[in-house]
Amino acid sequence: MKVLVVGANGKVGTILCGKLWAAHDFSPVALIRDSRQSTKFTALGVPAVTGDLEVGVADFLPGLDAVVFTAGSGGRTGPEKTTDVDQNAAIRLMDDCVKSGVKRFVMISAIGADPNSESERIRHYLRAKGVADAYLRSSGLDYTILAPGTLLDERGVGRIQAEEDLGFHGYLPREDLADCVVETLRNFLTLGKTIQLVAGRDKVKDAIAGVAGGGDLPPIA
Ligand SMILES: NC(=O)c1ccc[n+]([C@@H]2O[C@H](COP(=O)([O-])OP(=O)(O)OC[C@H]3O[C@@H](n4cnc5c(N)ncnc54)[C@H](OP(=O)(O)O)[C@@H]3O)[C@@H](O)[C@H]2O)c1
Repeated sequence: MKVLVVGANGKVGTILCGKLWAAHDFSPVALIRDSRQSTKFTALGVPAVTGDLEVGVADFLPGLDAVVFTAGSGGRTGPEKTTDVDQNAAIRLMDDCVKSGVKRFVMISAIGADPNSESERIRHYLRAKGVADAYLRSSGLDYTILAPGTLLDERGVGRIQAEEDLGFHGYLPREDLADCVVETLRNFLTLGKTIQLVAGRDKVKDAIAGVAGGGDLPPIA
């Protein structure tokens, strides 16, 4: 499965590219926005393409089997950039996927994402993510929305808790989130689902299969 990792130079994106490459049933392509970022992908053996989501990356979509959106404006930019990247650029990418015939779209969202979020701390971010999620649900794409809790840089342990609605917030190592993306791409019963993720007791594969409603399943492509 040929997968474009959007936001590949980011923390989750970089780990994910490595895992997809190592999994052998995937051919990852890293979308970066500065060609100087390509060195680490070249070292990994992962091809990189350079483009800016705000300008549009439609040229890279033909021939792909799936797109993973793990980009984000980051915490250091203002609310306008959050709207530009996390919301509007994500929506533009979805539209371009529809036009290009790339059906499979995995979105990294966040627990609490909601167009009407009243969060005191990160309301603007959660609203932008929520608007993008809502658009994806009505896009006609074969989507899965993965909504993790607060992400941590510590090593993953391969154990998570996954529910459509956990009912609480939590934490998740970025490495475990990357494993969740790999399992999600493999499990077609995750199509059309929103899955909240935090650290937990279940093996990633079992937890994803559990919330998706199935056991061992063949890959989508
Ligand atoms: N932090 C948390 O606790 C948390 C919790 C839940 C969900 N999330 C979500 O998890 C995802 C991954 O998080 P992360 O920590 O890996 O984020 P990150 O390290 O900040 O990576 C974000 C990536 O997006 C890229 N990007 C930003 N604007 C772009 C544009 N216009 N065109 C192309 N690429 C662009 C950045 O490129 P550069 O490298 O060039 O800057 C960066 O590589 C994000 O969607 C985030 O919102 C985060």
